[in-house]
Amino acid sequence: IKRTKISEALKLTSFGEEINVKGWVRTRRGNKNVGFVALNDGSTIHNIQIVIDIAQFGEEFLKPITTGACINVNGKLVESQGKGQSVEVQATEVEIYGPADPTTYPLQKKGHSLEFLREIAHLRPRTNTFGAIFRMRHHMSFAIHKYFNDRGFYYFHTPIITASDAEGAGSMFEVTTLDFNNIPRDQEGKVDYSQDFFGMQTNLTVSGQLEGELGAMALGGIYTFGPTFRAENSNTPRHLAEFWMIEPEVAFYDINDNMDLAEDFLKYLIRYALDNCRDDIEFLASMYDKELVDRLLFVVENDFVRLTYTEGIKILEESGHKFEFPVFWGADLQSEHERYLVEKHFKRPVILTDYPKEIKSFYMKQNDDGKTVRAMDVLFPKIGEIIGGSEREADYDKLMNHVNNLGMNTNPIWWYLETRKFGTAPHSGFGLGFERLMLFITGMTNIRDVIPFPRTPNNADF
Ligand code: 4AD
Ligand code: MG
Repeated sequence: IKRTKISEALKLTSFGEEINVKGWVRTRRGNKNVGFVALNDGSTIHNIQIVIDIAQFGEEFLKPITTGACINVNGKLVESQGKGQSVEVQATEVEIYGPADPTTYPLQKKGHSLEFLREIAHLRPRTNTFGAIFRMRHHMSFAIHKYFNDRGFYYFHTPIITASDAEGAGSMFEVTTLDFNNIPRDQEGKVDYSQDFFGMQTNLTVSGQLEGELGAMALGGIYTFGPTFRAENSNTPRHLAEFWMIEPEVAFYDINDNMDLAEDFLKYLIRYALDNCRDDIEFLASMYDKELVDRLLFVVENDFVRLTYTEGIKILEESGHKFEFPVFWGADLQSEHERYLVEKHFKRPVILTDYPKEIKSFYMKQNDDGKTVRAMDVLFPKIGEIIGGSEREADYDKLMNHVNNLGMNTNPIWWYLETRKFGTAPHSGFGLGFERLMLFITGMTNIRDVIPFPRTPNNADF
């Protein structure tokens, strides 16, 4: 008989029917007459109960069916007597695909701490918590593509290996085939990259934006959705060295259109999660965060506050609150400042605009005041910055002027600068950190717990 996924089997009402289920044992309990096995195959947070009659199978047979073992079960679908479940399977045939020796298998019936589970990233997807989170990652990825596809945006593939430093942040992972024992050098002793694979110095991308802008200048509206890499040595619960970013870029959008898109997009995704991942969200809420569902609903149902950086700084200065990092006009906001505005002052998400140009990237459109740029950061409760974006500088002279003032090397971005010479147009875009979104909708508090294989300083084992 064909396998039925447990998510489907739990919905069946055809009692008496013979079905096949396969999965990993979560727990086994019982008495001297029957064994009850809670089986999970990853298709749902819920387990199906397998009833194994000891008179038929023998006591010895049950012994290797322990937590973590994988089994293949044929049996009769019966209405469950137990509470909290509608159906169970009365086993007729059980095959053990793979046992999991309880003396060495790290996952046991009792709950484990998230810290411990991080050390066994190869097995943690088998826990209820990580099963729920990784299913949700899938659904949210799909929702992102659906959102843009339904609105006529094109998925534009930008390179992972690039020669440019999009953010001008300088914290990149180099990509090289040079032999470290024999690095070619020029006369001045500098590394001679002409002998490297690409004939130039390259790195893993920190953002697909610059290439994404080229897409928008031809296709109108595009988005990227791929891995990005930053070697910033920030060992925080909100930073990864490898994270996924979604970057829409739209021709003819000004910063207000950009803010509207960001707000609508975030609300759509949260609503999608509530509508399509309810069982998993409710499980996570019950385990880690009782206010999760209320917080998600609140964000979906209320307007985001929009205000300028300058107004934001004024509120922080006048708050009388003692911050770890000083607040003054020109300061780069830390997550404590962002969260104060969101959680304490406004009590709702905030979009902060018009930041000082010194603390933002070279490509942002300059305001007439000569001091600020048309940046927009979306700040969320529990998270701080979830989105960063801007209207782009579309004027060639202004852009070149800014680039030169910053002393930037224009060689790796000549192609980017050219777009401002040929058919330039107003355009805007933003980047959403996928794992920051996942933190928000799962209620988890450490970014290492919302990606299957986190990459952080001193951690790339598995
Ligand atoms: O603010 P960022 O650096 O903006 C950009 O990269 C722009 N090129 C985006 C654009 O306009 N197209 O990063 C965007 C978002 C942040 O708001 C944050 O959510 C996330 O990416 N992010 C990180 N997430 C996890 N780990 C890190 N190290 C992150 N750095 C940024
Ligand atoms: Mg940012």
